This record gives sequence, C-alpha cells and structure tokens, in this order.
Amino acid sequence: MQICRTIKDIRTFVAKCKAEGQTVGLVPTMGYFHQGHLSLMREAKKSCHRVVVSLFVNPLQFGPREDLAQYPRDFERDSAMAEEVGVDAIFVPPDREMYPEGFCTHVEVTGITDKLCGLSRPGHFLGVTTVVAKLFNIVAPDKAFFGQKDAQQAMVIRRMAADLNMGLEIVVLPIIREEDGLAMSSRNVYLDRDQRRNATVLYRSLCAFREAVDRGEKDAESLRRSITEMIASTPGADIDYVEILSVPNLEPVVLLQGRVMAALAVRFGGTRLIDNIIVEV
Ligand code: PAJ
Repeated sequence: MQICRTIKDIRTFVAKCKAEGQTVGLVPTMGYFHQGHLSLMREAKKSCHRVVVSLFVNPLQFGPREDLAQYPRDFERDSAMAEEVGVDAIFVPPDREMYPEGFCTHVEVTGITDKLCGLSRPGHFLGVTTVVAKLFNIVAPDKAFFGQKDAQQAMVIRRMAADLNMGLEIVVLPIIREEDGLAMSSRNVYLDRDQRRNATVLYRSLCAFREAVDRGEKDAESLRRSITEMIASTPGADIDYVEILSVPNLEPVVLLQGRVMAALAVRFGGTRLIDNIIVEV
C-alpha cells in the first residue's frame, strides 16, 4: 500500500492506474477507522480495480467550539487496517497541502444544508463540500463511497456532484452498528461507560419509530414526539434535534408518504452522536 502525503504523489499514483486502464474508487475519511470505514473500503475494492482512501481531519468543517484538536488520531493503526482490507493507496496530506496560504475558494450547496446538522453546525457542510470537491479534483475517481450514517452529508455530496457535473458515481452504503445497535463512529471513544450504555437508546428509538410506521402510524409529529420522549427520558441524553423529513430533498413531512427519514442528533456529555433510519410508506 502506497502512502502519499502530497497531491503530486497521489496524482502520480492515480495516473499510473488509469494508464493501465484501471478504475479508481475513493473513500474519503477523517481516520480512526472502525468497521463502518472498512465496509466502505471493502465495497470499493469489489467494484473498482484500485482503491484510494483519503485520511484528512478537515479543519474547515469543524466549528470554533468543536472537537478538532481532540479528534482521535492513530495513523499506524489506520494504515494497518486499510492495508489489511486491500487498500492500494492512502492520501494523508498535511493541512498546508490542502489549504496553502491564500486559499479562499469554497463550494457551497444551499437549501438542504440549512437543516438538521447544518442548523446546529453552521459552516460544517461548506467545509465538507469544499474538501470533498478538492479530493474529487485531486484523485479524479470513477466512484466515491460514503456512509448512510451521515445521511445529510451523502445527500449534499450527491447534489454537489450532480450540480457541478463532477462526472463520478456517488455510492452510499448502509450504517454499520455495534452489536447493541449503536452506530459506529470515531467519536464513540469519547463516551464513558454509562454514556455508552445509555446511547443505545438512539437506535432503539429509531427501531420503535419503524415499528410504529409498520403498524400504520403516519402522523409525523406524533412519531417525532415518541422518539423524542424515549430519548429525553434517558439519563444524560441532551437532544440537539429529532426530525422526520422526506428523502432526498429533506422537506418537512406532515403525513408519511414515500421515502421518509427519521434523523437525530443527541449529546451525551460533550459527545454529539447522530443516527438515522429511512422508511418507505
Ligand atoms: P468520517 O467521519 O471519517 O467518515 C468517513 C466515511 O465513513 C463517511 O462517508 C461516513 O458516512 C462513513 N461512516 C462513518 N461511520 C459509519 C458507519 N457506522 N457505517 C457506515 N459508514 C460510516 O464523514 C467524514 O469523515 C468527513 O466529513 C469527510 C466526508 C471525510 C470529509 O471530510
């Protein structure tokens, strides 16, 4: 597995793959890998000849009071895990390689970035779309792989790629969970034992939502209230949002119809966790 720290090096690697007629898949990440990240790499491996993983904790997508400095990092462990699943190259640029002095261009998706995480994390998606656009330009992959865990992020990136004719395929893959249902996240390591146990309420509340929908409940506000009450009655859970919105446009829903997503963000101590489920009515 090649480790590329400069744009020039990763471009040389990709140019060589393309000269040999190989397709290239890109998995953008911020590292501290878990099975969610690895599932994207494995899928990429299945459908592309070569897989490039980018590992860059993107300062542009963190707010001033967020966890940029504390974000967990372990490059040795990450590179061993990536190599194990057959990744061909890791692109791990220093900050100044991505944002040299004078950098002042941003890519902005409007509308669908105004809700959910966009409301509680102003500027977050501007940072995500800017870095992902740069990664697409640098690597020029045939396909890029994202997780449904960050459902809004995946929708925003799809929109950006379509609107700006980026000419690659965006593949979105299912949420990988711990045995007790908690969605895997690099941030789960911040949770203490009680918080970790209490955090299982997130997925339980989403399963209860799906069961209620299966039983025929269609009233979005009543469904939203049930999820909220279940989470609010759990010790240490501080709700950021619980929303029920249409997919893929994230419009408000009154009566459930078509594809609908229940999405939530909840803090346990200082740790903000997100999760979601999509149902089809
Ligand atoms: P990061 O949080 O490292 O996630 C990298 C990719 O892994 C994202 O597409 C995310 O949705 C996916 N992922 C995370 N947890 C998952 C899980 N439990 N199951 C399935 N997929 C999961 O998302 C980012 O980094 C950044 O915003 C990035 C896109 C790299 C831009 O900086």
